[in-house]
Amino acid sequence: MHDYIKKILTARVYDVAIESPLEVMNRLSRRLNNRVLLKREDLQPVFSFKLRGAYNKIAKLSRETLDKGIICASAGNHAQGVALAAQRLGAKATIVMPRTTPAIKIQAVRDRGGKTVLFGDTYDEAYQHARQLETEKGMTFIHPYDDPDVIAGNGTIGMEILRQHPDPIEAIFIAVGGGGLIAGVATYVKFLRPDIKIIGVEPDDAASMYEALKQGHRVILDQVGIFADGVAVRQVGEETFRLAQDLVDEVIVVSTDEICAATKDIFDDTRSIAEPAGALGAAGLKKYVERTGVTGKNLIAINCGANINFDRLRHVAERAELGERREALLAVTIPEHPGSFRKFCQVIGKRAITEFNYRYADARQAQVFAGIQLTEGEEEKNRIFEALHEQGYPAVDMSDNEMAKLHVRYMVGGHAPGIRDELLYRFQFPERPGALLKFLTGMAHGWNISLFHYRNHGSDYGRVLIGIQVPAAERSQFDQYIRELGYPHCDETDNPAYRLFLDGRS
Ligand SMILES: Cc1ncc(COP(=O)(O)O)c(C=O)c1O
Repeated sequence: MHDYIKKILTARVYDVAIESPLEVMNRLSRRLNNRVLLKREDLQPVFSFKLRGAYNKIAKLSRETLDKGIICASAGNHAQGVALAAQRLGAKATIVMPRTTPAIKIQAVRDRGGKTVLFGDTYDEAYQHARQLETEKGMTFIHPYDDPDVIAGNGTIGMEILRQHPDPIEAIFIAVGGGGLIAGVATYVKFLRPDIKIIGVEPDDAASMYEALKQGHRVILDQVGIFADGVAVRQVGEETFRLAQDLVDEVIVVSTDEICAATKDIFDDTRSIAEPAGALGAAGLKKYVERTGVTGKNLIAINCGANINFDRLRHVAERAELGERREALLAVTIPEHPGSFRKFCQVIGKRAITEFNYRYADARQAQVFAGIQLTEGEEEKNRIFEALHEQGYPAVDMSDNEMAKLHVRYMVGGHAPGIRDELLYRFQFPERPGALLKFLTGMAHGWNISLFHYRNHGSDYGRVLIGIQVPAAERSQFDQYIRELGYPHCDETDNPAYRLFLDGRS
């Protein structure tokens, strides 16, 4: 512990990093009946905290080592941090990036004089290649999180917070990817002020630290969600886990919609945009207040980054109200007879309707997919469902149904009469030229594609919903094909959104 404190106190970060402001979020504070503060790491020169760890690590290397060159693997903020640090210190930096990396990020590294090597489709492949080059070319590998000097560089954020806020602090909320940020901040804060809670925050589909702490050892997640790309890590670091086990009080997991809602809160208070990983801290903070009911406390969230493609904001804005429980999505079956549609609208009453899709199903009934604005959250939603059921209208809550939110709400066409043996899958595949073609070419087993929906979400991965007709006898062959394809996927054939709105009816 003492070694780390010394390392943090002597870390070299201010050649490149600023002491970022700790700002009160007035609106959110009022809403939550607590004093909420935001540590503005999004204001750093590379728009994330990552340059602290990278610079501290690289600044400690000898001239001879710097001259041999440094190498890292990253498609994101670590790449920018390493490139900037190397430029300042006159070192040659090689950054291995997956081929899926958007051009804008590749260019940003090149602008800082970094050499880019594009390799593989995933971070794991790029990482392996970087480690190979490290050995072959005698370069020094700069790990994004699992390195004491990187951890110590990040720890300077903890040092600043305690200096900026000598008054009591209930808790600090910190995004967790590989764990380097939380390990650094926790080490410093717990040493001086052990009463302050250190709370990690992870997306529910990339909860590698949550799982590791629960199971008492590091786990490798099969798949991770990529919405919060800054923290999409399958396994936390060894050293970061060791520190977290001792120093982290708990890890809170949040949904994509909750991250989007927190992004809006940050915008409302600061007029700045956080990237999803940057909004994680605030999302966890809100959930903590809701769960514990604390009032009158000082709560701090670290906004650790702002690197987001503008295109993605469409998706963020779409989800923010759902994440705040200010919108409900429902699928309602209503009888096809005069007056029944009006009766449905009476149940909805004067509430604002955010979205309305109505489709004739058959002579007896119709399906409605509706978005309704809520002013009293979950309780109000439950009342609407009760009222619908009382009127004899079967209704399904779609507010947490990812497939319905990503795809079905944008699809028209309804049930396909006579379609047989249809399976429904949701896929993620790398968003780069030719990826969709590769996906479709691989499908050439004679299986018919009966449904296809793709919508650009402005992220590095495309999300596709696909219906495929596979006769029962070929099912195991199909399962094998899906496994070999290697794209993250999810079988949605039994999803109620599919059954209600799309499936084959003979
Ligand atoms: C914006 C942002 N937030 C959080 C993290 C997670 O940091 P760590 O991997 O140290 O847990 C990263 C990592 O790159 C990041 O870029």
